Amino acid sequence: MSNPDFSAPKPFGPLRSFGRVRGRALSERQEQLFETLFPRVSIPAEPSETLDPLQWMPTAEAVIFEIGFGGGEHLIGQAERHLNHLFLGAEPFQEGVAKALVGIEDHNLTNVRLLASDARPVLKALKPASLDKLVILFPDPWHKVKHNKRRLIQQIFLDDAHRALKPGGELRFATDWANYAAWTLAKITQHGGFEWLAETATDWRTPPKDHITTRYETKKLGDCAPIFLRFTARPQAS
Ligand SMILES: C[S@@+](CC[C@H](N)C(=O)[O-])C[C@H]1O[C@@H](n2cnc3c(N)ncnc32)[C@H](O)[C@@H]1O
Repeated sequence: MSNPDFSAPKPFGPLRSFGRVRGRALSERQEQLFETLFPRVSIPAEPSETLDPLQWMPTAEAVIFEIGFGGGEHLIGQAERHLNHLFLGAEPFQEGVAKALVGIEDHNLTNVRLLASDARPVLKALKPASLDKLVILFPDPWHKVKHNKRRLIQQIFLDDAHRALKPGGELRFATDWANYAAWTLAKITQHGGFEWLAETATDWRTPPKDHITTRYETKKLGDCAPIFLRFTARPQAS
């Protein structure tokens, strides 16, 4: 398999939640990695059956899925620190996937699998209760009201996230847009399947202890300081 077709991303459902998928031309090394490494670490974009992530690393002590990993700073950094955990990363932006491939090769990582397209079909196809953590860091804010509907956090997404997470598993979300933080809290409350872990304001103002600063975070493009929201998945209602 060669470089996936980044020029024609398929939207999942009616609306795209991401912006551009192509940036600068890839370096020769990155082109090469798409030819050689990507086929070995890629997750099928449109799975036709249930996906058990442990097929890729049966000994994994935990499975973490990061959606929209951007340049991969957090994904690769976490994978380096936790070699016994399996990290799934989704990113439709070609340059981001290329950077993650470089990270995997530079650090000889065998615990990372990449999806070079919309995370949502894969989240939907994941085996129930197969994730220990779902991470969404600084997602596209879609801050104009007319674009809010493109936000990743929607009820259907939360349904899929809740099903894929183990009971007690963590949903981690960060944004520097105040309205997106409020939106997420409202959608989560409405959903009912998650419990917010914050007890005081310090809990959402302070990055989690294991947080790795991302490229987008350093750009400070939002309208507030970063807000970190952490939730645990409540057991499925019977
Ligand atoms: C604002 S950037 C932040 C990137 C990175 N998390 C960071 O903090 O630097 C949001 C990223 O989410 C990706 N994204 C948006 N919708 C997505 C989806 N449905 N599946 C996977 N990635 C998505 C975009 O392509 C974009 O790279």
